Amino acid sequence: MLASTVSRLKCPKKKRGKTCDGQLELFADETITIAEVQEVRTGRLECGRCKAKFPILAGVALLVPDVRLFLLQHVKGISKTVADQEIPREYRREFIAAKAQIETEHIEEDLEAERVNALYLMNHYLRVHDSGSLKYPWWKPLSGAASPVIDCVVREYWDHGPFARIEQWIGRMAKKDSEGVCGALVELGCGVGGLYPVLKPFLSYYLGVDSSFSSIMLARHFALGMPYAGSIGIPEDLLHGPVSREINLAPATPAGGQADFVAGDLDALPVKSGEWDVSIALNTIDMLERPSALPEIQRDLLADGAIAIQSCPYIWHEAAASQIREVLPSRISDSASAVEWLYEQAGFAMEERFHHVPWLFFKHVRQLEIYSVHMFLARKSRGNP
Ligand SMILES: C[S@@+](CC[C@H](N)C(=O)[O-])C[C@H]1O[C@@H](n2cnc3c(N)ncnc32)[C@H](O)[C@@H]1O
Ligand SMILES: [Zn+2]
Repeated sequence: MLASTVSRLKCPKKKRGKTCDGQLELFADETITIAEVQEVRTGRLECGRCKAKFPILAGVALLVPDVRLFLLQHVKGISKTVADQEIPREYRREFIAAKAQIETEHIEEDLEAERVNALYLMNHYLRVHDSGSLKYPWWKPLSGAASPVIDCVVREYWDHGPFARIEQWIGRMAKKDSEGVCGALVELGCGVGGLYPVLKPFLSYYLGVDSSFSSIMLARHFALGMPYAGSIGIPEDLLHGPVSREINLAPATPAGGQADFVAGDLDALPVKSGEWDVSIALNTIDMLERPSALPEIQRDLLADGAIAIQSCPYIWHEAAASQIREVLPSRISDSASAVEWLYEQAGFAMEERFHHVPWLFFKHVRQLEIYSVHMFLARKSRGNP
């Protein structure tokens, strides 16, 4: 975590359903200086109000309401890059025991799994229309015949997903601004962080939050240029293993103090509210237990008149869908209208939308997934809480 990021953060500890929100103080054990900015590799943040402590491991601040539970639930991702002796002593024994239980089987939704992160890395950082990819097309097998259909779909749609639409929106907003930037942006469920390099020219500041330790590690490496010790591969022909192809992706040039990523939970966000110009949540609302909380979280983060962007293919778990159905008026009967309605109820006015944007996931040389996302840009009405 960059030392300067602390001014954007608050205590996420929960008491009787509410976050503490106290001011955090930084205690650094090991630091490095990158692009004239101090990066804390190990240390902790401590709340001045409730005295809760939040460790920083391998540069990732664990700003979650229950650190012990986070360490145990995310042991697979953490243990890839963090040595046991760096885990705070009070949690170390349980952490080591949990490490011995790690399941290596293939779990599609495990955001700490190497293969799942590899798919997101491709989705966020690999392009079709740049000279590197065209010389070395990552969507084609290194030996054997390539699928003409996968080739055609990747070439036509890969570079035109949600990131491209958001780049247009934010670029246009920045152009209208006298200083040519659209201010400070917070991204919720940012994953491996690939949206930041796309939007960097248009922002004065960026903060990404995600509950996956591995994703935040990769985001800090590929979007901020911070050190990363693990190996990185992507899928090819699964005969050779799940991620057998080397990825030729350079880490970012460090962004100074202009951006950072922290581990956190949307349910107890460690980010100061009321001061952001843009809040983005892509493909995350359908992963939340209570989807209707997301518009309220985005609203609370934003300044009056500021912008929320949301996109999703709405792959609801039934419990989440039934939570929405309970509050929805009977005239609304599709996911896109339902989510727009939730945002309007939270105090947003819809400004622009796309109903079906292709979002492609390359899984290996014989499997390509196509999602179709609904995405919109909405403005927080002035005078809302
Ligand atoms: C489907 S992925 C989308 C990632 C990225 N926004 C994108 O569009 O490529 C959902 C992301 O939300 C994160 N996530 C899910 N529930 C979360 C929560 N309660 N708090 C923080 N992040 C969460 C996951 O770790 C994952 O990175
Ligand atoms: Zn606190």
